[in-house]
Amino acid sequence: MLTADKNETLCRTGASTPMGQLMRRYWLPVCLAADLVAGGAPKRVRLLGENLVAFRSPDGSLGLIDEACPHRGVSLALARNEECGLRCLYHGWVMNGDGQVAETPAEPEGSRMKERVKFAAYPVRESGVFVFGYMGPPDLQPPPLDFDFSDLPASHVIVMRSREECNWAQCIEGVLDSAHSNYLHSDGIKPKGGLSITEDTDLKVAQFTRPSNDGAPRLEVEQQPYGFRYAALRRPMKNPESNTYVRVTLYVAPVYSIFPAPKGWASMQMFVPIDDEHTMFYYVLWKREAPIDEDTRERYLEQHGMRVGLDMDEQFRKIGKRDNNWMQDRESMTSGRSFSGIYGINTEDFAVQESMGPIVNRAREHLGASDLAVIHFRRTIIDAAEKLAREGAAPVGLGQQVDYKALSSGEGMVPVGADWRLVCEPEPA
Ligand code: FES
Ligand SMILES: [Fe+2]
Repeated sequence: MLTADKNETLCRTGASTPMGQLMRRYWLPVCLAADLVAGGAPKRVRLLGENLVAFRSPDGSLGLIDEACPHRGVSLALARNEECGLRCLYHGWVMNGDGQVAETPAEPEGSRMKERVKFAAYPVRESGVFVFGYMGPPDLQPPPLDFDFSDLPASHVIVMRSREECNWAQCIEGVLDSAHSNYLHSDGIKPKGGLSITEDTDLKVAQFTRPSNDGAPRLEVEQQPYGFRYAALRRPMKNPESNTYVRVTLYVAPVYSIFPAPKGWASMQMFVPIDDEHTMFYYVLWKREAPIDEDTRERYLEQHGMRVGLDMDEQFRKIGKRDNNWMQDRESMTSGRSFSGIYGINTEDFAVQESMGPIVNRAREHLGASDLAVIHFRRTIIDAAEKLAREGAAPVGLGQQVDYKALSSGEGMVPVGADWRLVCEPEPA
């Protein structure tokens, strides 16, 4: 459990809060590079409770500024995207990505008013298929953030995204909780012999097989400069007396998790606070070796229930929500076809996380051994926020050199009693 005070520290990300200050010290995902067309429509982005617009100028340069025009508050999502910046429709003021008002055409000639007007403008950069922004103090901007997929073209990457109607920490705690996969995801993850997790591509519903039916994994946590990683240790179905089945998941501060993917793939998830009661969820899958064909791409989106226009609207609001009990099909549960009655692994996660309410009351929890990584996550990020607020301590991962591009998870068998870290070693060539 957490006290009400600690829960507030964990969940609140406004500019005046400790977690909000911490979050603002990192590059954070703003949107996808493909969302921004040179000279095209500015994209409305709400991030850490701030209403912003992201845009790509006709010359290709990127901007991330306040949505509200500094003159009288008209949305710059409506603005004309011109060479000199975003031109507000109301009185023609032009705001550029450097935070300057470039023109105030309705003011008398010679007016110097524009020199005095301030609005928020944040550094922004492309990293592979993503656009990242930095909302912290200009003199403390960290080095550019790139992950393993960042040097890959869009053809090699799938990004699924959805808006979750709850706090960011509630969402990321799902991926730091290995045990739930044996229950919530028992429709999509089946125990089966074999060596490691695989994807069954013949089935219509995304189904992954796992060489274990052990529903009470032992967790071990290891602190790391970027956050921590944890191993979930399970008895395998084959040779349980001599082998242990290991899955290693990384928590990468502040909002990322990297976890095992089927062979040939790598994957990570991002949980970006829109505000304290909404989170933008990104599920990134990539293949280093080959482009991903259209069929596979469509199959992933369908099976995960992440199709814009079908499973969610253009703003990534899902059709499954509290009002319709997340489209749960009770008949499929009574007939034995489904454990959860909810179609898709991610949609199952959304349902349980949102069902707790916008910000769960962690004072009423009863945490057990299976929650070890969740406990560690809270400790890590709350400590970082408090230490930053109290003594200006460097945020997790930023005080030292972390090679974010090299971070990866691992999964496989080790002999009983052997070090689980063996599964993270690169395979011999
Ligand atoms: S409100 Fe934007 S120029 Fe007047
Ligand atoms: Fe899950």
